[in-house]
Amino acid sequence: MTAQLNPRGDVAVLVPAAGAGVRLGPGAPKALRLLAGEPLLVHAVRRIAAAPSVHTIVVAAPATEVEAVRAMLAPVAPVTVVPGGAERQESVAAALAAVPAGPEIVLVHDAARALTPAHLVESVAAAVRDGHDAVIPVLPVVDTIKEVDATERVLGTVDRSALRAVQTPQGFRRSVLVAAHRSAGDALTDDAGLIEKQGGAVMCVPGSELALKITRPFDLALAEHLLTTGA
Ligand code: CTP
Ligand code: MG
Repeated sequence: MTAQLNPRGDVAVLVPAAGAGVRLGPGAPKALRLLAGEPLLVHAVRRIAAAPSVHTIVVAAPATEVEAVRAMLAPVAPVTVVPGGAERQESVAAALAAVPAGPEIVLVHDAARALTPAHLVESVAAAVRDGHDAVIPVLPVVDTIKEVDATERVLGTVDRSALRAVQTPQGFRRSVLVAAHRSAGDALTDDAGLIEKQGGAVMCVPGSELALKITRPFDLALAEHLLTTGA
């Protein structure tokens, strides 16, 4: 069944999905690869559309796949599909430019985090609504982390209690994200990094293990398993 978005919602979700998926190995662009018989992007969009505050979803697709992605997502939810760019940041900028007037909260969410639950979308949006300009979902770091030199010689052990692993969706007051992208320099792997570079405050909220990023074949196998156990 096609999901309905909330015309009174205050959240737009940008879904960069234009990456190749090099680390997953040879095959189609990652967002189009199958997980339990459906493309990763379909899993991701279905969960975003289930979040009650979502007014708009904009997907940045691989440039050659825009029509195919539109057709693929039409039965899932009403989405806008734009061509992405060579870097993730360009894909996010292209999606941001397609957000209509209305939503004042913008979330940026990797298609590769296909099993992210709708409640994480809501909790990030709620923290922005509560007055934080930039919000990221995080998990504690569980491994011991060492700093090494170029020869792999250990320089020291980092205090992991002060470290966080960062997920998406990352949430922003719309004007803050627009301004950050307008003055962005080098491409970064996350959007909160743009705000940090410009001296803005970024707040953490608890992330979800289900929001893992499917990067390598192991992650895809783990996601398949999680789906069979109800994710
Ligand atoms: N992405 C994008 N445009 C790009 C590069 C990445 O929209 N030019 C998106 C990916 O589709 C993904 C998200 O950004 O949903 C996170 O990127 P990553 O996990 O690195 O995906 P890929 O770039 O596809 O993978 P790889 O780096 O292994 O090629
Ligand atoms: Mg990449």
